[in-house]
Amino acid sequence: MSEKIYIETYGCQMNFADSEVVGAILEGAGYTLCASLEPETPDFVLINTCAIRDNAEQRIRHRVRELRAMQGRHKNLRIGILGCMAERLQNRLMAEEDNVSFVCGPDAYRRLPDLLQQVRSEAGSQRAEVELSTTETYADIEPVRLASNGISAYISIMRGCQNYCAYCVVPYTRGRERSRDPQTIVDEARTLFNRGYREVTLLGQNVNSYSWPDTGFPELMDRVASIDPALRVRFATSHPKDLSDELLQVMAAHPNICRCIHLPVQSGSNRMLKLMNRKYTVEWYLDRVDAIRRYLPDCSITTDVIAGFSTETEEDHLATLDLFRRVRYDYAYMFKYSLREGTYASRHMADDIPDEEKTRRLNEIITLQGQIALENNRTEIGREYEVLVEGESHRSKERLFGRNSQNKVLVFDRIPAAGGPEAQPGTYRTVRVTDCTAATLLGELV
Ligand code: SAH
Ligand code: SF4
Ligand code: F3S
Repeated sequence: MSEKIYIETYGCQMNFADSEVVGAILEGAGYTLCASLEPETPDFVLINTCAIRDNAEQRIRHRVRELRAMQGRHKNLRIGILGCMAERLQNRLMAEEDNVSFVCGPDAYRRLPDLLQQVRSEAGSQRAEVELSTTETYADIEPVRLASNGISAYISIMRGCQNYCAYCVVPYTRGRERSRDPQTIVDEARTLFNRGYREVTLLGQNVNSYSWPDTGFPELMDRVASIDPALRVRFATSHPKDLSDELLQVMAAHPNICRCIHLPVQSGSNRMLKLMNRKYTVEWYLDRVDAIRRYLPDCSITTDVIAGFSTETEEDHLATLDLFRRVRYDYAYMFKYSLREGTYASRHMADDIPDEEKTRRLNEIITLQGQIALENNRTEIGREYEVLVEGESHRSKERLFGRNSQNKVLVFDRIPAAGGPEAQPGTYRTVRVTDCTAATLLGELV
C-alpha cells in the first residue's frame, strides 16, 4: 500500500499554488494525498509555511508542537516543513523543533520523493534541501488542484522577487525573479477551461515584471484572455512601479479580464516609501490609480499597508490615512510592521515604534477602511452584476455565493424570487444587489 501524505498550507496564494505542485510531484512518485489529517492518519504531514511576519511563523511553530501529540499516537508519522520558513531557518528550525524530519525550500520540491525516502529509511535522521534556483519554475508539472472547487484555479507564472523592499523577507526565501514559458501557461489555462474551470488567477510576487523574449505581462494577459470569453482571468500581485498603461489597455480590450487590481501601497508618506525602497512616490501611485479609473471606470482597487515601519511619525501615519481617503479602496490587507532578520531594515533601521503605538495606528487604518468599504458597498445597492456562482454560502444552505468581476462576494437565494431555474455552481448568473455589509453584497437572482 502506498504511503499517505497530508499537505497543510499557510501564507500567500503562491504557497497554495506550490502545494498543488508538491502534490503532483508526490503523486507522481506513488504517494497518495489525503484530504484531511484525521481520521486518515497520514504517514507524512507536510506544512507549507510563510515567513512574512513573526506572527505567521509563531502560528506554524504552534502547529508543529500540536502535531507532536499525534506523533505520540502514530509512531510512523513524519513532519516536513516546506516553503518560506524552511528556506529562512533551514537547520535551525529542525534544531528547535526536533519532531521535524526535514525542511525543503520552495525551489527544491523535485527533491521531495528522495527526501521522504531518506527520512523513512533512516530513523531519527533530519534532512535539509534549501538550495534556491535561478531557473526553476515547475513549468512542466501539472498541479493537482488541491484547494479547488473545480471552478477557479491558480496558475503560477513567475517566481521569486528581487525588489528588496527594506522590510521584506521574500527575496531571501524565494530567490531571484524568473518567468515561466508563456506557452505552458496558455496551455495550462486552456486545459483548465476545457475541464470546466471558469476562472484562472495568474500568480507571482510581482506579476507585471513577468518577462519572456517577445512576451511581457500585457501580451501574456492578452493570450490567456483570448482562450475563451467565458474564462475569467485574474492576476496578483502587481507592483505599482510596473503598472503600465499598456496592461490597462489590454484589460479594457478584454471584458473577461477581471476589473480588480491589487496594488499594494504600503504607506501614504513619501519619506516612508523611500525608506521602504518601494521605488515610487505617492504622486506616482495616485497617477496609476487615475490611469486605472480612466481605462477601467468600474475597476475595484485593493491594497496592502504596513503600520509602524521604522521611524514612522504621526505625520507619516496621517498621510497614510489621507491616501486611504483619496483612493477609497474596496479592500485592504493591513499589517503592523514586523522586523524580519536578514532584511535591509533589520540591519540598518531601528524597529523603534512601540507595539502599542503600531496597534493604535493599525486600528485607525482598519476603522477608516471599514467605513470606506461599507460606503463603497452601499453605492452598489440596486446595481446588477454578472456573478460566477461558486457554491453554497457558508452561513446558509439555502443561499449561494459567487463573485463579480470586481472580486466582491455576492450572496443570494438559489432560485430567483420571481421563479426560474436554480443557479448552478460554475455558471454565470445576473444578480441584483439589494443590501450589504462592509465585506459582502447581498442580492437576488435576476
Ligand atoms: N509582492 C507583494 C507583496 C507580498 S508580501 C508586493 O510587493 O506588493 C504581502 C504583504 O505583506 C506586503 O504587501 C506587505 O504589506 C506585507 N509585509 C511584507 N513584509 C512585512 C513585514 N516585515 N511586516 C509587516 N508586513 C509585511
Ligand atoms: Fe517583498 Fe517588495 Fe518583493 Fe513584494 S516587491 S515580495 S514587498 S520585496
Ligand atoms: Fe509568506 Fe512566502 Fe508568500 S513569506 S507571503 S508564503 S512568498
